[in-house]
Amino acid sequence: MRTNAVAAAILLMMVFLSVPVNGALGADWTKAVAADVTLFYPGVASWEFLTSDDHRLGGREIKQARKDCRHCHLGKGGELDLKADEIAAGSIKMKRSHNPFEPEPLPGKKGIMSAKAQAAYDDEFLYIKVEWESKGAGWSKGAKKSDRVSLQINKAEPTFKKYGCFITCHNDLNTMPESPSKKEVSANPYYGGQQRDDVRLYAYYARSAWDQRRPEGELSKKLKDGGRIDLVSIEFENGVATAFDGWIFDDRRWEDKAGDATGAYSKGKYSAEFKLKLKSKDQFDADLFEGDVVSIGMAVHDDGASKRKHYVSFPFTIGLGVAADIKAEKTK
Ligand code: HEC
Repeated sequence: MRTNAVAAAILLMMVFLSVPVNGALGADWTKAVAADVTLFYPGVASWEFLTSDDHRLGGREIKQARKDCRHCHLGKGGELDLKADEIAAGSIKMKRSHNPFEPEPLPGKKGIMSAKAQAAYDDEFLYIKVEWESKGAGWSKGAKKSDRVSLQINKAEPTFKKYGCFITCHNDLNTMPESPSKKEVSANPYYGGQQRDDVRLYAYYARSAWDQRRPEGELSKKLKDGGRIDLVSIEFENGVATAFDGWIFDDRRWEDKAGDATGAYSKGKYSAEFKLKLKSKDQFDADLFEGDVVSIGMAVHDDGASKRKHYVSFPFTIGLGVAADIKAEKTK
């Protein structure tokens, strides 16, 4: 009897172990290898800073689109070589202009955090899972703040591959140091026409400044060449995860359809899962196929910090069945 019970228990366990580990959106994570993604607090380090003399050698290299961020700021063992703690503490200034990297430091904010990322795909979808340890400030009931994870996704634009989200971050964005006043923004026909007073993320090749779109011919060529950046995001607020699907080009816009993503906070950790359609016919979605290597820039809003006060990653790649920083294996 006793041995039988043990045998039955072992058998049950084997059955259990061989069942795919399905995520909330139907992903099978059994074969997925987890990779650590390092994120840092950038303060007001914008595309203008990065391409300027304030960034010294970095500025010269980026202007000519030669070396990428990781080349100069990541050590051989993957360790970050960047003064992120000093930026978060508000204690360092830019070398030439002497502008602070963070004019409004948040008390006790860490400079660096780490997230775990996994990817898998099947015939229809690419799944991306992101987890990070957190106090869950936005998740708690009645907190009146939120936490968030966002992914920028693009497979064609060479400068996105090298510099990631930074190609969309500018001094004149809402809450950045040179942001125009709300009055100025709403008086502009483009923003005013949408009843808006905020300047949002835009790719440097789609606008020369908040109020200057690049010529139409250039924009349509860039769109044809895959210069639009897909954007997916999950907001964690008051015990609810809400998914968004959007894009960045000459502006950052959310689409009307809800994003296919979900997540939760539990046991000191946020967990987020995104589901991206392969071969999507939607022009605002990333154009994903088996065999592709796509570049991803990740941003995490933690501790209930909003707007620009997030952590960001250098761009990393996901390969759909092919070698990349994270190789997604096919599951079905
Ligand atoms: C060619 C090498 C190079 C590249 C490429 C480069 N940087 Fe830098 N970066 C530097 C150097 C050198 C400094 C320090 C400048 C100084 O203090 O003299 C620096 C400083 C910084 C700082 C200020 C904090 C600090 O540690 O001094 C930030 C933020 C930063 N870089 C971000 C980036 C990002 C983001 C990218 C990619 C978009 C990038 N860098 C690409 C070389 C580079």
